[in-house]
Amino acid sequence: MSATLQPRLTGVLFSADQIRQRLTILAAEIARDYGHTDLIAVAVLKGSFIFLADLARLLSDHGVHLKIDFMELSSYGSGTTTSGRVTLRQDLADSVAHHPVLLIDDILDTGLTLQTAQRLLLEKGASEVRTCVLLDKPSRRQVPTTAHYVGFHIPDVFAVGYGLDYDNHYRHLPYIASLALSPPAATEGTAP
Ligand code: IMP
Ligand code: MG
Repeated sequence: MSATLQPRLTGVLFSADQIRQRLTILAAEIARDYGHTDLIAVAVLKGSFIFLADLARLLSDHGVHLKIDFMELSSYGSGTTTSGRVTLRQDLADSVAHHPVLLIDDILDTGLTLQTAQRLLLEKGASEVRTCVLLDKPSRRQVPTTAHYVGFHIPDVFAVGYGLDYDNHYRHLPYIASLALSPPAATEGTAP
């Protein structure tokens, strides 16, 4: 019988302060590019909920007018690797037809989720879709996808916190940490 792997935080990748500082710069960049265009921010649930909440308020400081909508897409089971198939679990509430959309996700990994979301939004008639991700893991890409706006580039580690999860845990952390899975520590007296 195989032992269940135990998740363990292995270090802080970005502190709450570092995230705040980076997002301030990112929001200024987005506001400069869009000016006072009425914009629909579409956030991919669930991982982007904290990123969206902070970014939206920073954009408001720059006078950007936002409508906010959500779509839930899922490509992960309960582990740390993608299933390779993206399913739409919850669709948008409102039409995006003839409007520019800023698509917001927590992390760009294989690219499958962002590519699918972008295609769905264009099929729904969005006039333009730009993409904004908090984290980008370029070394993991399976489909050629780049984001217009990126918070941080990271190596091939599994990141949790600030909305990102492992099996729906750790989303509430105010910082971003790396996570490793290891076999449970051997208990004293256990036979070899
Ligand atoms: P992709 O479709 O492989 O690009 O994966 C995107 C989705 O997978 C993200 O929206 C996350 O929900 C999840 N994901 C990918 N890498 C990580 C990670 O390092 N930590 C937590 N979730 C991840
Ligand atoms: Mg996730």
